[in-house]
Amino acid sequence: MNQSAASHRASELHLQLNDHNHNYYILAQPTITDREYDDLLNELIALERDHPSLATPDSPTQKIGGEPLETFESVVHPIPMLSLSNTYSKQEVADFDQRITKLLAQTTHDYVLEPKIDGVAISLHYEHGILIRACTRGNGHSGDDITQNVKTIRSIPLRLRTPTPPNFIEIRGEVYMPTEGFQALNLTRLDAGEDAFKNPRNATAGSLKMLDSSIVATRPLDVVLYAVGKVDGTTFESHTALLAALSEYGCRTPPKTWVSSDIQGIIEGLDALQAMRDEFPFQIDGGVIKVNDRSLYDRLGYTAKSPRWAVAYKYEPEQAETILHAITIQVGRTGVLTPVAELDPVDLAGTTVSRATLHNEEEIHRKDIRVGDTVIVEKAGDIIPAIVRVVLEKRSGNETAFNLPDNCPVCDTPVVRTETEVAVRCDNLHCPAQIKSWIRHFASRNAMDIDGLGDTLVDQLVDLELIQTPADLYTLRIEKLATLDRMAEKSAHNVISGVDKSRQQPFWKFLFALGIRHVGAGSARRLADHYLSLEALMAADQASLEAIDDIGPIVAASIRAYFADPTALAIVQSLQTSGVQTTQPPPENKETLPLNGLSFVLTGTLPDMTRGEAGEKLIKMGAKISSSISKNTHFLVAGESAGSKLIKAEKLGVPIIDAPALSQLLESGQLPETPHP
Ligand code: IVH
Repeated sequence: MNQSAASHRASELHLQLNDHNHNYYILAQPTITDREYDDLLNELIALERDHPSLATPDSPTQKIGGEPLETFESVVHPIPMLSLSNTYSKQEVADFDQRITKLLAQTTHDYVLEPKIDGVAISLHYEHGILIRACTRGNGHSGDDITQNVKTIRSIPLRLRTPTPPNFIEIRGEVYMPTEGFQALNLTRLDAGEDAFKNPRNATAGSLKMLDSSIVATRPLDVVLYAVGKVDGTTFESHTALLAALSEYGCRTPPKTWVSSDIQGIIEGLDALQAMRDEFPFQIDGGVIKVNDRSLYDRLGYTAKSPRWAVAYKYEPEQAETILHAITIQVGRTGVLTPVAELDPVDLAGTTVSRATLHNEEEIHRKDIRVGDTVIVEKAGDIIPAIVRVVLEKRSGNETAFNLPDNCPVCDTPVVRTETEVAVRCDNLHCPAQIKSWIRHFASRNAMDIDGLGDTLVDQLVDLELIQTPADLYTLRIEKLATLDRMAEKSAHNVISGVDKSRQQPFWKFLFALGIRHVGAGSARRLADHYLSLEALMAADQASLEAIDDIGPIVAASIRAYFADPTALAIVQSLQTSGVQTTQPPPENKETLPLNGLSFVLTGTLPDMTRGEAGEKLIKMGAKISSSISKNTHFLVAGESAGSKLIKAEKLGVPIIDAPALSQLLESGQLPETPHP
């Protein structure tokens, strides 16, 4: 396809994919199947591969993430990101209303109440409707540039859906991880021997801080947008008008708001909000009350930390009292014995709680938790209920202290206790509990992604000793499967074809699937990219492993120990024989990119693209973009009305590239002739 046909088709695909994203993620009304969507996206990916200039910063392909970054650049917020002052009682909310009424010396105005989302604040910068930058709140003055990561969030438009966007707008809101996605993510992490995230907010913050956006793309992040910072080219009369405009632009706004001209109506709204708090897909930790008329904001003003026109009403963490009637033990994939509190069912923050994790033996002893105790459970924004303390006054003396057993409760092998770890583990690789969770992990989405192999089937297969290791999956026969309880021939076929397809999974997924302790999906990718084959990885020594980003001494030692274990080795070899991928082609070599190692600064207005777009194109060619000129800058790209940066560059003798020279550079990859300093 020639360049112009390709560019035409790419614009068509942009429009279609943007519409489908909007239908799916904002309206929740998809009009095509996932498969059809993937086909369109893959067509665009292929076009951009053949015609790299089509990979614009607003391309829907940005949603799959890009090359890992080395660090995040710092961004100064055009307007500081303040926080809200908190109230904890309805009286304090009424006091807030009193203060406002006094300050305004007018009797009527509306308030808007919306949920206070317990996530991570972000700011999105749109220039002429295109998302050019996204940053964290940081210290309120400046935050980290996390554009690449934010672009992978499906519900964030890369281009505002309006023909007349403002010249510039900073849209602010909250990134969160939906409750369901959070739970699923934690299961995969525990399976990989990684620590679970404490709550959805930590999981969100941890995800946004990752340098590899292609991993962020796999995290179930979402967003609600509810405020603006700097706006140039339009104004919003009221908060409700602002929310309506954001919605028009294709942004997700709070799913429920209450408007009332008297504070009593808002206080009733707070009760209604609390009653429905579990219906939201995100965690809320209260409500936010805002004056609706935005023209009053300047009059009401700001304190050093927060605006006077808004206030947060925060819920106290919810707690409940119940009886701990037993402590049971779960054996995980890595053999760790985890004690679990079995509780008399109790209502807590909208759900019935009957179990709580006790983490480890040390925690039980520290909190002096005994079987039969009356305990306080809490779910403060945390989905996983935890035991806060024992109600000592209610002890009868019949309670019994708890210690983990000396033998594995599933296979009866003596457990191992080490000085360095609080964990107690069962070291028997043949323990059915470990085999089951290993196979579940092996077959899970991020690993070999074996369709049709559900938990019950895994239990059956292991209990009947039809499989003992993941390698046995590849020798399963349809006839055998079809004889199992509740297994029809068609489902048996599905399982076999799922197993068959998994042979094509990329090498890194296979590495992750092996379930080496401390090797999560991210490290598996880095190991695969570095060693390119299982043989090379198996031959790697401690120092070579530690030289890889994010692989520390513990992870390196764990990898070495895994491949030194004869049982593990036999399984790996058998998997290799069954035809799974244990190699991968080398990644694209950065050193061959034309602008590798060169540092650019951009300033002024360019005629046919924004600075952000130009920057992204230069980065794709290997360049580094900085925000300020120094003697280490290799080139300054200067458009129309360039100011102080141009002067500084001239002073320092940094070569200057004008707009035509930039176009030429982007086309040809050839640096223009510029006088050298
Ligand atoms: S308005 C000037 N609205 O709560 C501050 N904030 O404790 C404007 N938050 O930093 C913020 N839900 O991250 C606003 N509906 C909502 C919110 C909300 C959550 C967060 C936000 C802010 C923090 C303040």
